[in-house]
Amino acid sequence: MNHPVARLPGHPHIARKDGVLQIEGQSLSELAQAHGTPLFVYSKQWMLDALAAYQRGFEGRDALVCYAIKANSSLGVLRVFAEAGCGFDIVSGGELARVLAAGADPVKVIFSGVGKTRAEMRQALAAGIGCFNVESEAELEVLNAVALEEGGRAAVSIRINPNVDPKTHPYISTGLKGNKFGVAHDRAVAIYRHAASLQGLQVVGIDCHIGSQITDASPYLEALERVLDLVEAIEAAGVPLHHLDFGGGLGIDYNGDTPPAADALWQQLLARLDARGFGRRRLIVEPGRSLVGNAGVCVTEVLYLKPGEEKNFCIVDAAMNDLPRPAMYQAFHQIVPLAERQGQATTYDVVGPVCESGDWIGRDRVLQVAPGDRLAVLSAGAYCMAMASNYNTRGRAAEVLVSGTQATLIRRRETIEDQLRSEQPCA
Ligand code: LLP
Repeated sequence: MNHPVARLPGHPHIARKDGVLQIEGQSLSELAQAHGTPLFVYSKQWMLDALAAYQRGFEGRDALVCYAIKANSSLGVLRVFAEAGCGFDIVSGGELARVLAAGADPVKVIFSGVGKTRAEMRQALAAGIGCFNVESEAELEVLNAVALEEGGRAAVSIRINPNVDPKTHPYISTGLKGNKFGVAHDRAVAIYRHAASLQGLQVVGIDCHIGSQITDASPYLEALERVLDLVEAIEAAGVPLHHLDFGGGLGIDYNGDTPPAADALWQQLLARLDARGFGRRRLIVEPGRSLVGNAGVCVTEVLYLKPGEEKNFCIVDAAMNDLPRPAMYQAFHQIVPLAERQGQATTYDVVGPVCESGDWIGRDRVLQVAPGDRLAVLSAGAYCMAMASNYNTRGRAAEVLVSGTQATLIRRRETIEDQLRSEQPCA
């Protein structure tokens, strides 16, 4: 008998076979049965394919992809990228410990973020990371002092705020004058001159990151020209730069979005780099979402259907503590039933059990569902589990990594004992 397989548009690793949703050929219902819900399931192949698009784009160049682990810092995910030879972009001592535990090469680790503590700087120096992406003049002074105390030199790149609008949600725009990130374009040459004079520092690069979920190449091209203008000015002032780091930010398809593919984007950027004579420089990128976002789904079970006066609610067992993006950024995630059923379709707001009206996962979704059915929330590989919380004393979900015929539980479901372990009532 011929079993029709229908791939989900934009999600080549997810398909419906005989009415049942599969990821890399494995039944999501069986995984949910085995591990319970809410459950995050990731496709290893999707991650490797996403990485391959960057690698194709950089073929023949001196380039390093540093996965921005804030998108999904689960050890099982980090191991996939470490084994593939990736570098990592981290923003805390905790993230440093994670990448080292996953087997990262410390030389390929870069440390971003506006608020590094002295302890984190010491930890990163001791680990021998490749570069600190410094975000302010004050941080430069502290890093210099810490490196001198430790008897070493810290390799630094300075993050430039190019004042470019990435045309994305305001909370995830980072390269505008009003944002807290990076140093102002106008101050950059003076700051570089000063940095080069500090004994505890070794200036190695320049970086920028203009925002996230960018679906258009033009802000990247604009930022690139501005950064290259600065590189010319900084080098003319006598400070050579070894590498150029263009951050992350490339978007994914959540709901028919059409971001450029990583290799197509880099073809355009490299053409400009070549034209301006920088094509042979060492290049670094820090993608997060575009390496993991569409690799993952969150499987959730329908608890209750609740007809309302103005709205019908589909109450599921995942909530804003598992999937915070709709509540935080009014983000859209597709929601599809694991098994198709016949019957009347109804328009629902899909909501979680958390006691807040902001606890919604999808609004006005047309679904044919009944209590006990399972739904897949798509595009849940990035900024979901990494941003999950224990709000309402909900344990964080379990995670499974699927690779071919294998399914590995890479994080067990958090128990109430896990949550209470670090607390105690007053005596
Ligand atoms: N590099 C730096 C310095 C960053 O700040 C970020 C993300 C990245 C790289 C990776 O960006 P990506 O390639 O993932 O866009 N929670 C938000 C996204 C916050 C992004 C923060 N910075 C969301 O769920 O949309």
